[in-house]
Amino acid sequence: MQKPQGESVNGVHTETETSGKVITCKAAVVLGPGQPFVIEEIQVDPPQKMEVRVKILYTSICHTDLSYWKGESEAYRVYPRILGHEAAGIVESVGEGVVDMRKGDHVIPIFNGECGDCVYCKCDNSNLCERFRVHPLRSVMVNDGKCRFSTKDGKPIFHFLNTSTFTEYTVLHSACVVKIDSKAPLKKMILLSCGVSTGLGAAWNTAKVQAGSSVAIFGLGSVGLAAGEGARTRGASKIIGVDINPNKFIKGKAMGFTDFINPNDSKNPVHEIIQEMTGGGVDYSFECAGNLDVLREAFLSTHEGWGMTVLLGIHPTPRMLPIHPMELFDGRRIIGSVFGDFKGKTQLPHFAQQCMRGEVNLDEFITHELPFEKINEAVQLLAEGKSLRCVLHL
Ligand code: APR
Ligand code: ZN
Repeated sequence: MQKPQGESVNGVHTETETSGKVITCKAAVVLGPGQPFVIEEIQVDPPQKMEVRVKILYTSICHTDLSYWKGESEAYRVYPRILGHEAAGIVESVGEGVVDMRKGDHVIPIFNGECGDCVYCKCDNSNLCERFRVHPLRSVMVNDGKCRFSTKDGKPIFHFLNTSTFTEYTVLHSACVVKIDSKAPLKKMILLSCGVSTGLGAAWNTAKVQAGSSVAIFGLGSVGLAAGEGARTRGASKIIGVDINPNKFIKGKAMGFTDFINPNDSKNPVHEIIQEMTGGGVDYSFECAGNLDVLREAFLSTHEGWGMTVLLGIHPTPRMLPIHPMELFDGRRIIGSVFGDFKGKTQLPHFAQQCMRGEVNLDEFITHELPFEKINEAVQLLAEGKSLRCVLHL
């Protein structure tokens, strides 16, 4: 394989070698719905105005990547494409106008960007940037509507969720790149890119879980376990884990969940069991399974009068909310949370510090590690519910 030659610092080639030039490198490309990832050589263009080119060192697979890979919705079927949005890496070069990052900085990509200038970014109550919020249909760079990736014979390869991390080098808008402390353990920082920030932030920022409260988490993948960790760190006294896969309870127990329910073990609906266990329902519930029937159970599991359900799962189904409008008069609330309501560029550097000080337990989330070339194995591990996060080493 033809790679940029010459000296390198921390694995990043020096400016004279690659800055401003096309880089040839390896990427895992998806060519069709559910087709195995193909590791192939691609070309990565230099970053344009306000863009950053990043050398990815670690990446992992999240449930959302699986949904796009399978092409669960018509809109997801854009090929060839480079998926992936959880990662950590080092800045290789920056485009014109980028002043908050430079070559060698340690960074994590964020699919929910923060431009800092729009009405949303200027609003304290929202983390949805006008230009860089998640847009499932977007598959090109915002600047010029073009791809920075191409095949060796010059055909475009499409982008994904503002990030595309299943590649040795990627190009992102600087609004979607967060600089973190170079002393932070880069491998663990991938978790802040999506899963852990999403779940934990939902408990901290969206629900604002109070000390002594009760919580039910539906779906104990990385997102659900992170929501549990958010509740634990805020002092919740009861954390109930609900999952149809009882193997998930082992991890939940290690992370401080206090009770577990397998819906398949009882004829009664889960919300009845939870109402009985808690004297009327939990204060907060989190839907982290991506299933509408589960959402309804989560909604009814909260206490009348003040209960709050936070929706985290992605629901590709065309079905509408399974809630009658009059049920909202019972005082239960329901709200969605994107990226844990974190404003990525503003708040993640501080969150990384909290993780470094051990205030948040990241250790349990990484269950497997594999070389990047074995990405198809990592996909299977997640799809079969055997892994939380499998870190791929590039
Ligand atoms: N009831 C309870 N738990 C369920 C059910 C159900 N009917 N169906 C699935 N689950 C559990 C699975 O067994 C699994 O443990 O939900 C969990 C989902 O975990 P992962 O597949 O690891 O997904 P994760 O990465 O945590 O994401 C969860 O959030 O970001 C979204 O798209 C993502 O919808 C997904 C959700
Ligand atoms: Zn994700």
